[in-house]
Amino acid sequence: MSVILLNHIDEVKSNIKEWKKDNLKVGLVPTMGALHAGHASLIKKAKAMCDKVVVSVFVNPVQFGPNEDYDKYPRTIEKDKQLCEEIGADIVFAPSAKEMYGENVNLSNTELTYVCPPYNYIDCLCGKSRPGHFDGVATVVTKLFNIVQPDFAFFGQKDAQQLFIIKKMVKDLNMNLEIIPCPIVRESDGLAMSSRNSYLSIEERKSALSISKALFEVEKLYNKGITDSNILFDTAVSVLDKKLELDYLEFRDFNTFEKVDKISKNTLTAIAVKIGKTRLIDNIILG
Ligand code: PAJ
Repeated sequence: MSVILLNHIDEVKSNIKEWKKDNLKVGLVPTMGALHAGHASLIKKAKAMCDKVVVSVFVNPVQFGPNEDYDKYPRTIEKDKQLCEEIGADIVFAPSAKEMYGENVNLSNTELTYVCPPYNYIDCLCGKSRPGHFDGVATVVTKLFNIVQPDFAFFGQKDAQQLFIIKKMVKDLNMNLEIIPCPIVRESDGLAMSSRNSYLSIEERKSALSISKALFEVEKLYNKGITDSNILFDTAVSVLDKKLELDYLEFRDFNTFEKVDKISKNTLTAIAVKIGKTRLIDNIILG
């Protein structure tokens, strides 16, 4: 069966209704498109665990700040559909912003009901330099969950803070599905795959490689028994290419998201940098 591309919420809902009648397990993979092997790994996992797989492709305006890359974010729906077809997804749901948010909605919180994750988890890491971002993510993900009513939804560890926030939201709001975390997929040289890598010039791509190198160096030292976060921080920074502008490099408990000074098993080392106009993130879980 080939994948079908749907742009309207009602069409998706009526397909889901039929599937649910047959008790089929539905998996959702939310994406913003420009699909790469990282996304593909999520879709493959969904395919392995579920009877039916919906991939949403939606560049969500409410998670972008006013000076961010909403307009120039890569949109490659035909290629995306092809990849979903190859993996065996059932529906690609690619709504317009109007379909998701209505005709005249000015997407401010005076016009739209938002889902706001707890302050403690959004006032740090990516949330600090992207105010409102995680409100936008939690809101669109809730809408997608309500439209698709999946049994399982698949999220990448690449966006560790997003994964943490979504898991918390599902628990706090008693949402009736399970979140399945998926490991980071990297290029053969170590760079974490990202739709935003397509913005990089050849020179920038070379500099960006030092991001994963810095994380691997932290891992190497940790495995040798070094647990002092100051030493690990300094080492990582010394590996980073000087052309990169560091936004954050932090050590957090993977389960509670609290900052840690002494690194242990399950410490998340998370980094964000700006390279030219492009913002990239990566992380590694130690141990
Ligand atoms: P997007 O950046 O397209 O990512 C969609 C999913 O793919 C996320 O769960 C992300 O963590 C995962 N992903 C991206 N790169 C990956 C990699 N290299 N390895 C493994 N997984 C990877 O994240 C979003 O879209 C949006 O915020 C969204 C959740 C769709 C809400 O709009």
